[in-house]
Amino acid sequence: MYRKGIILAGGKGTRLRPATYSVSKPLLPVYDKPMVYYSLSVLMQAGIREIAVITTPEDQALFQRVLRDGSQWGVQFEWIVQPSADGIAHAYILAEEFLNGHPSALVLGDNLFLGHGLQQRLIARSLPCSGGTIFTCEVSDPERYGVAGFTGNRVTQIVEKPTNPPSNSAITGLYFLDGDAPRRAHGLRPSERGELEIVSLLETYLAEGTLTVERLGAEIEWYDAGTHDALLEASQAVQRLQKGGELFGSPDEAAFRRGWSSGEAVAKAIQHLGKTAYASMLGTLVERAIRQPEAA
Ligand code: DAU
Repeated sequence: MYRKGIILAGGKGTRLRPATYSVSKPLLPVYDKPMVYYSLSVLMQAGIREIAVITTPEDQALFQRVLRDGSQWGVQFEWIVQPSADGIAHAYILAEEFLNGHPSALVLGDNLFLGHGLQQRLIARSLPCSGGTIFTCEVSDPERYGVAGFTGNRVTQIVEKPTNPPSNSAITGLYFLDGDAPRRAHGLRPSERGELEIVSLLETYLAEGTLTVERLGAEIEWYDAGTHDALLEASQAVQRLQKGGELFGSPDEAAFRRGWSSGEAVAKAIQHLGKTAYASMLGTLVERAIRQPEAA
């Protein structure tokens, strides 16, 4: 069974107030594009075309305006609302019908993965359909995140925002779980803060020895844009990387590279984007692909 995608883009963005009074956090710009483009691009790079987008009821229409129905990028969206922030693992219950037994890749709407070589790793990790895979990244402030503890190379512990972190390996907001995840999520009890915790769901896989870890190296920069500083750093990283003339976190680019949208569709998008650096970089990509198809 192929893997389906989930973008979890609910929540009130309270840590980014007042910027989030009128706009949902994943719709804020990260340099030149809405934050949610980056999460979507990750799923597209993993080869995923059926994607549930989970938002608050109030924000759904805004997301639909930004993402449309997905056909422009060769993907299909299922729109799901989460009335209150009941936890990341709650997403699997909300998406149960959509997943219909398929394995999934869930990405948080405020997580960005920038750099080269991600696509190959995602595709390699996407193939096994049983168990779970988490993606970790070395950070200097692990107490801000879920953290993985290791015995040798084997993951033996996962803890949410620990005071004494067992390692510097932060668990990023990208989770590849098998088709059993919704059933397991139903079995969880809300934590003290009233949420179905993602670490509790991951622990069920860890306990069975079916949780694997993909450690992202220095070639991938990871950002959780949940604070003003992190949002600014992420924007600066995109600005720096795109100076090389290549787009990062662009569904237009991902769709074209995968052959999910035609040169004509991209030309139409470019026309609509008008005189922007984004449009000009897309144009260069298409021209290069026409001149040297194997290099695109
Ligand atoms: O970014 C990675 C981290 O994300 C992980 O290391 C942690 O293990 C994981 O719990 C999460 O931590 P955060 O503190 O960033 O979680 P937060 O509650 O801020 O939620 C992250 C995003 O998910 C946020 O943009 C809103 C969305 N969300 C969250 C919850 C709890 C929802 O849409 N619905 C929810 O119920």
